Amino acid sequence: MDKQIQYYSDFYINANGKNAPAVIRNYDKNDFEQLIQIQAECFPPPFPSDLWWNEEQLMSHIQHFPAGALCIEVDGELAGSLTGLMIKFDPNHPEHTWEEVTDNGYIRTHDSQGDTLYIVDISVKPKFRKLGLGKLLMEAMYHVVIQLNLKRLLGGGRMPGYHRLADTLSPEEYIEEVVSGNVKDPVISFLLRCGRKPITICKNYLEDNESLNYGVLMEWKNPFI
Ligand SMILES: CC(C)(COP(=O)(O)OP(=O)(O)OC[C@H]1O[C@@H](n2cnc3c(N)ncnc32)[C@H](O)[C@@H]1OP(=O)(O)O)[C@@H](O)C(=O)NCCC(=O)NCCS
Repeated sequence: MDKQIQYYSDFYINANGKNAPAVIRNYDKNDFEQLIQIQAECFPPPFPSDLWWNEEQLMSHIQHFPAGALCIEVDGELAGSLTGLMIKFDPNHPEHTWEEVTDNGYIRTHDSQGDTLYIVDISVKPKFRKLGLGKLLMEAMYHVVIQLNLKRLLGGGRMPGYHRLADTLSPEEYIEEVVSGNVKDPVISFLLRCGRKPITICKNYLEDNESLNYGVLMEWKNPFI
């Protein structure tokens, strides 16, 4: 299964009534500076800046699993990125931390014999949000899952709206409310709209004050398997 694939898709994005040319493609060395800038804009304080990508991590992504290193460009400007690795996933032991699975974002844990594409990060620059770019990136990664004949796409979603309701709701109750549509969470509602379904809640998933360090493991199954 060591098949390496390249992704390239160009189309138009409608932003403020105008159509702009857009491309989803694999990222490479020339994109690193802009990718780190995207992280800085997407994860401002109190999010720890040492969790933003550094060049060494980005280099490791394109060395270990270039097929899982995707970015989206709008009118020549990098607007967002989505990064993954392959793992063997055991549904009977779903609990883990982001650091364990992603090797702290370096993805040296990438297993080319794995059955699951695991999302390390998705980020879209604030000025390009709510245009559907995040969903398009996720759909591009579904294409990669199908192309590589993997069972599923998986990843832990932050639940940044939870700190506002943590006094009254347990993490499980919060997710139930988000799934039923009564509460909107900036990340979990987005992942639901992308077709991802919650499997379990992971404690101490990632250092993230807004989510009280919780993450929700969310799956999309390859419809052909
Ligand atoms: C989560 C994130 C990647 C979403 O990116 P995005 O490009 O804004 O995603 P989309 O535009 O596809 O969807 C976002 C929302 O915009 C809405 N939307 C999409 N196209 C739209 C349009 N043309 N007009 C109005 N709304 C639109 C979607 O319905 C969606 O609503 P939802 O919140 O109910 O799901 C982005 O908010 C982000 O980078 N957040 C910070 C980083 C982060 O927390 N990443 C997740 C780590 S687990």
